[in-house]
Amino acid sequence: HRPMRIGIVGLGTVGAGVVRLLETNEALITRRAGRPIVVSAVSARDRTKDRGIDISPFAWVDDMNELARRDDVDVVVELIGGADGPALSLARVALGAGKPLVTANKAMLAHHGMDLAGLAEKAGIPLKYEAAVAGGIPVIKGLREGAAANEISRVYGILNGTCNYILTTMERDGSDFGAVLEEAQRLGFAEADPTFDIDGIDAAHKLSILASLAFGTQIDFAGVDIHGIRNVTADDIREAAGLGYRIRLVGMAENDADGLFQRVRPILVPTDHPLAHVGGPLNAVVAEGNFVGSLFFQGAGAGEGPTASAVVADLIDVARDEYGDPFAMQVAHLLRQPKADSGNR
Ligand code: NDP
Ligand code: HSE
Repeated sequence: HRPMRIGIVGLGTVGAGVVRLLETNEALITRRAGRPIVVSAVSARDRTKDRGIDISPFAWVDDMNELARRDDVDVVVELIGGADGPALSLARVALGAGKPLVTANKAMLAHHGMDLAGLAEKAGIPLKYEAAVAGGIPVIKGLREGAAANEISRVYGILNGTCNYILTTMERDGSDFGAVLEEAQRLGFAEADPTFDIDGIDAAHKLSILASLAFGTQIDFAGVDIHGIRNVTADDIREAAGLGYRIRLVGMAENDADGLFQRVRPILVPTDHPLAHVGGPLNAVVAEGNFVGSLFFQGAGAGEGPTASAVVADLIDVARDEYGDPFAMQVAHLLRQPKADSGNR
């Protein structure tokens, strides 16, 4: 099979991570995708910046919309961020040019997801966004595929790694809010504008996407009631602990006869609840289905490796889709392998 050629726009924490992951796991990705996934072109703001990756094999394209239209780009990967502006324009150009789009941009999806999904649907091409919600946790696939047969009544969880990192580090060390936020920024967890994290907006972006998937409703970001963690103090955390609780920023969405209810706020979680044990930049999502019961997804919600992992998983899906059933491909691959020596255990 011919390689799937991708163009990456945005080479920050996530974009550079995607390049590194494609390189490091090249052989297994090729095997699982059914063909090589190769970067042919890249774009960002500053061509000369040291990103810790070698971009010399790729074409550098200053105009990202031109990148999306290039003949040597089969799939566009948008990793810039921002609800509107260049990310949205790129997404529209890519889908308009009939190119599958992979994005980690929850802000853009929360505001324009229905519009972009409409463009993708019209063109009959994939729009993939596993990395946009809960970083490395395959929660989009989990809901869309794993829980596909269920009526989901409620979906909730810890959806922002930066806030969880701040709250749990303050809880552990009694450290200062501002200092931990700076650390989260340095570690690549925070948004370019970290007020999106600490004011609960990023969690609300993700919640609105999850709710739409879970309930089959339109994405309704404007309908989320949002409170962040800006005013949570070390004293609050200590007092909560004294009463047997931990403070977590939780997003919750419910859909019932009264309509869709979505809210993000710091809440007191009893120490024996699984969400109380989700620490650092981890995220967790609980979905309640009428046949499967309660599903609990947990993993790294932010950072280079986990987010790149979700982006590349989407790319593998796109590569496979063109060539049919992934399970059949995996079986075919295994049948070609020599049998492992099971030894005498
Ligand atoms: P960064 O700020 O680290 O990187 C952003 C990249 O986009 C940079 O390479 C920057 O260029 C480029 N860029 C920004 N504005 C423009 C522009 N106008 N034109 C061209 N290029 C531009 O962000 P992240 O990698 O952290 O995040 C990328 C996306 O992934 C965002 O949507 C974010 O919400 C999402 N995300 C991030 C996660 C994380 O843990 N970091 C987790 C899940 C999703 P340059 O480098 O030249 O300045
Ligand atoms: N800033 C986001 C967070 C990145 O901290 O969760 C992952 O979406």
